[in-house]
Amino acid sequence: MCYAIPGRVVELKGKIAIIDYFGESRKAFNEFDDLQVGDYVYAQGGFLVKRIESNEALSILETFKEMFFKLQKVDSRISRIRGPEPKMVDEKFIKAIKKAKQGLSLTQEETLRLLRTTDSQQLKILFKTANALRQRHLKNSCCVHGIIEFSNYCKNDCYYCGIRKDNEKLERYKMSIEEIIDVVDYAVNRLGFKAIVLQSGEDFWYTTEKLIKMIKEIKARCGVFLILSVGERSIKCYEQMYKAGARGVLFRFETSNKKMYGKLHTTLKFERRIKLLEAMGKLGYLVATGSLVGLPGQTEEDLMNDILLTKSLKADMWSFGPLIPHPETPLSSSKMVNINTVLKVLAVSRLIDSKAKILVTTALETLDKENGRRLGLLSGANSLMITLTPAKYRKLYSIYPEKSGDGKEIEENIKETIALLYSLGRAPTDLGI
Ligand code: 5AD
Repeated sequence: MCYAIPGRVVELKGKIAIIDYFGESRKAFNEFDDLQVGDYVYAQGGFLVKRIESNEALSILETFKEMFFKLQKVDSRISRIRGPEPKMVDEKFIKAIKKAKQGLSLTQEETLRLLRTTDSQQLKILFKTANALRQRHLKNSCCVHGIIEFSNYCKNDCYYCGIRKDNEKLERYKMSIEEIIDVVDYAVNRLGFKAIVLQSGEDFWYTTEKLIKMIKEIKARCGVFLILSVGERSIKCYEQMYKAGARGVLFRFETSNKKMYGKLHTTLKFERRIKLLEAMGKLGYLVATGSLVGLPGQTEEDLMNDILLTKSLKADMWSFGPLIPHPETPLSSSKMVNINTVLKVLAVSRLIDSKAKILVTTALETLDKENGRRLGLLSGANSLMITLTPAKYRKLYSIYPEKSGDGKEIEENIKETIALLYSLGRAPTDLGI
């Protein structure tokens, strides 16, 4: 399967390459020394990850061309908003929606008004507006990342997380460096993935040296955009991982409410997390961050602040997902959040940043197995993940119960994902920025 389509380099401006995809042009960072105008490349996450022979590229483009335009048509039909704004009693709500459509910034009061909506007609308008903005600014490309969860050991005891160190009932596993490399190699060179997230608990068995060796070997074997999600490490470690070839980090701040953060974590400090996120951005990483939705005591104001913090961190990818209470954690008896609350956060995020990559998290899929992904994609999101963790480990990576992808063959999951994307007119590609 194709998770990116080749583009043709039409211009080189220093480190930036301008790439043409069937008449649409996008930018990406070039890290190849001898790249020339006219070359064909794959881009992912705003970076060029692979070069491709022109004959091969042209034949891929030929087979994809018809599909590319067909999908765009389906997407623009689904995302179109028909007719004038409905007459509504709630003028403030409609005013906020109108402003967002015109690309104007929302005040905090307006943002809160949207997040507090429970009326079903208003919710529909909010989700549709977010989807229309996504279509207007980013067209129909949807990045599909593979995620490999390589260790469930963790030195922390986050109150929400099923792999916290105090969960003595959990059988622990760690994959060897060679095993991880083999899974990435298979995912990239056999299944066609172009972006892979490597995630684990905070497991310092994987020293900086081991991680660097792994990243270098992967980059030598695979043209892939590599995203690390390994928790709090020193800035030096992140610097070295970047040098070795990692280009993305997935690292949530979990909640912008400092007091709540303090209650949920005994070993981690909010300020350090934010400092690290800022440092990662400065190092050049694509930063994916966000928070948990549905934490006990969380208010709409907290959610608004989560969105605003994500924006102020200049995150490239926004990751908001529901808390799924895990029976072996102190939050076991928390109430399950309503799916509309999560969809509102995704939609308002889109209204606040029209260009962001917004993820449908695997936890949203767990919250609503039938429709979670589809609803997320129709509420402003444009990014998905597919679990590639080997089946024997998947159940053990139980940060929350009933994680999506449990018990499903990877190939089956890929097929279902592609079918869903096609039904919505989305192309499973990431065309860059
Ligand atoms: N429900 C949903 N997401 C969770 N995470 C941890 N525990 C849970 C849970 N019970 C998320 C955290 C973390 C990411 C790897 O998993 O937000 O950053």
